[in-house]
Amino acid sequence: MERAAVIGAGAMGHGIAQLLAMTGLEVWLVDIDEEILSKALNQIRWSLGKLVEKSRVTEENAKKALERLKTTTNFEEAVKNVDFVVEAVPENLELKKQVFSRLDKATPNHTILATNTSSLSITEISKATKKPDKVVGMHFFNPPVLMPLVEVIKGEYTSDETANLTMDLAKRMGKTPILVKRDVRGFIVNRVLISMFTEVCLAVGRGEATIEMVDAAVKYKAGLPMGAFELADYLGLDVTYSISKVMEEAYGARAKVCPALEKLVKDGKLGQKTGSGFYDWSVGRPRIPFRLADKYDVERVYAVSVNEAAWLVYEDVATPQDIDTAIKLGTAWVQGPCELGDNLGLDMVLNKLKELYAKYGEEIYKSCPLLEEYVSKGWLGKKTKRGFYIYE
Ligand code: CAA
Repeated sequence: MERAAVIGAGAMGHGIAQLLAMTGLEVWLVDIDEEILSKALNQIRWSLGKLVEKSRVTEENAKKALERLKTTTNFEEAVKNVDFVVEAVPENLELKKQVFSRLDKATPNHTILATNTSSLSITEISKATKKPDKVVGMHFFNPPVLMPLVEVIKGEYTSDETANLTMDLAKRMGKTPILVKRDVRGFIVNRVLISMFTEVCLAVGRGEATIEMVDAAVKYKAGLPMGAFELADYLGLDVTYSISKVMEEAYGARAKVCPALEKLVKDGKLGQKTGSGFYDWSVGRPRIPFRLADKYDVERVYAVSVNEAAWLVYEDVATPQDIDTAIKLGTAWVQGPCELGDNLGLDMVLNKLKELYAKYGEEIYKSCPLLEEYVSKGWLGKKTKRGFYIYE
């Protein structure tokens, strides 16, 4: 792999292009809009400057990476001679299919076509090409330069060779790739994140807590690097909304789109990038008050996250080890949800879910049969030496 192209110069695309250039590949960053490209280049320069400042990259290597990266609006010209393409356009199946159909015609036969989709079907996207064996999911996490995880997803037609080469490239980029076993909507990380987001939106929607109360608990009690609403704003509410829509279509009432999110998107309030969303970002990152950390029961977030991890194991999407690695590296949680469940006690998690389901009747609180099975077998986690994991 020597030459690559990234299609789409938004938050993910420009970070992925930067990573590829830092890995030593010649990179074309492609977008339809010159202004977006020039903004992307500025962000890449800023990011490289930060990495130099932190001694994570030498000044010389940062300069070389910049020299290897070029921007263009000429799609066909940019991809005609590349070994690897990462598509990072907005999360819209039709748009992605159009891009893949163009890539199919304009790239050499050997070129691997990866999509950074957050939730859409790799199989569906691959059908827009005549070489679906070369199409693969390569899902990065925001900010791609800093988050060490890449989810690699095989569609129905993806060859082992394509998946292996993608895993190898991710490693060369300094990332930890996790091969997701099934092409399910949301893969691993977004399944868990959306379950958390569904719960906190319901809690706020019912008036049980404010956005700040939830985020204070999530940040200071659960120890997550950002509050749930803060993270949504940081990712972009348009991005969060399109993932939520895909998840609602796939999982129904278990992943209801948050009405407050929908309203903000309709009003053009897209979070950090527009200066307002759930929070006001006009004066920088929101300050989440520590004093509110006890005002929301963070065990609810634990319960739905552990439950979602159980669904992922039950549906054979990933092993507990891979789920935990993915969540820790993709979102910087201190513990993965399977470790968390085992530490809390799976009986405690199940009781919490049952209590919530009895009170609210929402699908998100319906316990996964696997969790029920574990508890009925007495596999309660660390305290009984058996839960998601076996303890010696
Ligand atoms: N390049 C280089 N440096 C960067 C950077 C980038 N792209 N982005 C931030 N930094 C720097 C900051 O400038 C800051 O440097 P200084 O110390 O010099 O100010 C440093 O990194 C730390 O940043 P902050 O002080 O602003 O904040 P932080 O300590 O909270 O770290 C974070 C920021 C790494 C984003 C951290 O908050 C975090 O891990 N948050 C969770 C992010 C997450 O969950 N991402 C995945 C979401 S899901 C997803 O992306 C998938 C999808 O499909 C949408």
